[in-house]
Amino acid sequence: MLRIKGLQIMKTTPLRFTDGVVTIRKFRRNDKFAMAEVANNEKVAVNLRDAFPSPYTIEDAQKFISMCLRQQPYQVFAIEFEGEYVGNIGLHPQDDVYRKTAELGYFIGEPWWNRGITTRAVNLICEYGFRELDVIKIFSGVFSFNTASQRVLEKCGFGREAVLRNAVIKNGQICDEIRYAKHTTP
Ligand SMILES: CC(C)(COP(=O)(O)OP(=O)(O)OC[C@H]1O[C@@H](n2cnc3c(N)ncnc32)[C@H](O)[C@@H]1OP(=O)(O)O)[C@@H](O)C(=O)NCCC(=O)NCCS
Repeated sequence: MLRIKGLQIMKTTPLRFTDGVVTIRKFRRNDKFAMAEVANNEKVAVNLRDAFPSPYTIEDAQKFISMCLRQQPYQVFAIEFEGEYVGNIGLHPQDDVYRKTAELGYFIGEPWWNRGITTRAVNLICEYGFRELDVIKIFSGVFSFNTASQRVLEKCGFGREAVLRNAVIKNGQICDEIRYAKHTTP
């Protein structure tokens, strides 16, 4: 059992972490069906980079899962709620002079929004990242219109570090990117 700031996190088996409500775990090959269903939603895609396919097919999910299962150390997890796959969350270590930093990304399916699930998943993966990935900083870049994601990061103790003005073009619209970060030391 690990304890961080009053949160109890159980490491049950390797690459499966739970706080008793939400679990993040290694992908299973058959997650591809639920992943495609969740990801094939313009309301999800609009908040993500263009590399995220839209529309999103079962084949896209299958390729993504295969790529994740090959990664060392493991970086992207399935988010599970009430025994069901509901989304993805990943930490991507950077390189060169940024190698002590990892980038955080996530999405969950629309039917599960606003139940605190992503907030729990972010707390779980940050604990994994700081402990297993040898990083001292975790950051996420959020499009300025994505106020729900900004709220998630604030709830997880991330600070607003920078506004990258006009950094993003998404669906033909220019917007700012807000950089949030969390550090091992204050
Ligand atoms: C953003 C996203 C991950 C949030 O997941 P979630 O599980 O609903 O998040 P939580 O329930 O933990 O927290 C959401 C918070 O945002 C708030 N919120 C929701 N919609 C909001 C809005 N339009 N404006 C401001 N706050 C909003 C909720 O009230 C909640 O805050 P609260 O607990 O203080 O009430 C989810 O909506 C999603 O997957 N969106 C599409 C993909 C995406 O945006 N990924 C992140 C890219 S940076």
